[in-house]
Amino acid sequence: MRIIYPAKSCTDAISALKTTTIQCLDCNQKGNIAAVFASSRLQSGATASTDPVERRTALSRQQPTGQSQSVYPEWLGDRSFTRTHGSRFAYVVGEMARGIATPRMVVEAVKAGLVGFYGSAGLRPETIADGISEIESGLGGKAPAWGANLIHSPQQPGYERAVVDLFLSRGVARVSASAFMSLSREIVRYSASGLSRAPDGKVARSTHVFAKVSRAEVARQFMAPPPQKFLGELVAAGDITAEQAELAAHASVATDITAEADSGGHTDNRAAGPLFSSLVQARRETCKIHTLDADQIRIGLGGGIGTPWAAASAFQMGAAYIITGSVNQAALESGLSPEGRALLADAGPADVAMAPAADMFEQGVKVQVLKRGTLFPMRGNRMWTIYQTRDSFAACTPEEQKFIETALGEPFTAAWERTRTFLADSNPRELAKADANLKYQLALVFRRYLFFGAQWAREGDVSRLRDYQIWCGPAMGAFNEWVCGTPLETLANRSVKQIAWNLLDGAAHITRMQARRASGEDIPQTAFDYRPGIFD
Ligand SMILES: Cc1cc2nc3c(=O)[nH]c(=O)nc-3n(C[C@H](O)[C@H](O)[C@H](O)COP(=O)(O)O)c2cc1C
Repeated sequence: MRIIYPAKSCTDAISALKTTTIQCLDCNQKGNIAAVFASSRLQSGATASTDPVERRTALSRQQPTGQSQSVYPEWLGDRSFTRTHGSRFAYVVGEMARGIATPRMVVEAVKAGLVGFYGSAGLRPETIADGISEIESGLGGKAPAWGANLIHSPQQPGYERAVVDLFLSRGVARVSASAFMSLSREIVRYSASGLSRAPDGKVARSTHVFAKVSRAEVARQFMAPPPQKFLGELVAAGDITAEQAELAAHASVATDITAEADSGGHTDNRAAGPLFSSLVQARRETCKIHTLDADQIRIGLGGGIGTPWAAASAFQMGAAYIITGSVNQAALESGLSPEGRALLADAGPADVAMAPAADMFEQGVKVQVLKRGTLFPMRGNRMWTIYQTRDSFAACTPEEQKFIETALGEPFTAAWERTRTFLADSNPRELAKADANLKYQLALVFRRYLFFGAQWAREGDVSRLRDYQIWCGPAMGAFNEWVCGTPLETLANRSVKQIAWNLLDGAAHITRMQARRASGEDIPQTAFDYRPGIFD
């Protein structure tokens, strides 16, 4: 397409362009592109030549030869993603447990054109219900681009069902399903309850499952129709209709599969590239087996995305959407305390470590956490080593006992008493088991320490600063390095919108440079640099 405009100077040309009718030389279609300008280009408030953002403008004027390549943030990712979920960008602000991804974070994400997931894992259904109300009132009940998290909880019978009941009764149209190793009846219920036959004969969905996975064998289950056994049980229980079961038998459980590479929190530390390609193969094979349209199953990518380079590479691989987590935890809207966010702002990419997970301590499950400024990972890992080798607190060496009591901040007996009191109230059966098993007592006291590590960090208990458990992946440190010396270095400027728009605009810039390079232009290395600024 060629555009001819009646202007001499560059500024005149651009303003003329906004009101000029353009005509395609190939098909002769005409149209006005003002709307394109208004909606597609992220508006930047930075204009001074000293501002880091200005470097980007200067760069894009450098076009040495050949055709310029238009790449806008809105064009990154799969168009069907933004169409289906009602967002401007193919960008998800990921759920962060126990309300760290607050209702306010979700509202601000949606207002910024992103998809936001409420961090409902680990919250009681009543608290989740309040969060949903807050999101609905913040968005005026209109915007669709948000959802909540359903965490697979086999150790808490009834929880998944209560949360799915809540989501269905409140019309939560998007659910990110995480921690699943295999499908549960409840996630199948949520998915199938939203199926209906559209007037054009196609299958319509009013409930959308985003399956968060880091293994192809789990992804395959979400990409395929659900097992007949679940559908039969759900129909028999009156949870779904026979028509829904029939439709579900020929439709994938999820249409959005989030590939979770090395991330904050629970992670298999997978490298993004091999994980993504593995899911692409899984999709091809699964769709062939079940005669499904592979284009109907989008694969998004997250884990390690804290810079435009990481975001651009995800889109370049073909990711339908990207998801961020760690970087949003330091954002203004985060449920983490200011003290915790200040620690995150100091982190470098290597300042993370794996530490025992409170909920699955005895199984040896680990989570990725912040290492710098807290002793939590060191203390947690030592507790795990002690637990593996000792059968009780009394069996520990004096040096180990001293370490345990220093970390707990009180004698072991006092910590056990507190744990006991809590269990007497919440889980008498567990208490009976622990009273008869000293090793189990050790595990429960350690688990309590690990659990409170996260609570102290959320609440900002400065007396336990050194014991903060803050889930965090390398993306956080990469982000900090990238924003160093720019307005986003200041925590007060880090809103989910500023973070996302800078990542997206930077990814568009890098993609544009790459497209020009790939089309034969000689693009210098530094042209791929992108410095963040503040957007209006
Ligand atoms: C503090 C924190 C809490 C998280 N909690 C959850 C959760 O409850 N459920 C879940 O599916 N993912 C959770 N995640 C993962 C994020 O939703 C997201 O997928 C991930 O952080 C992306 O990787 P990144 O941390 O490298 O950006 C959490 C991540 C962080 C940093």
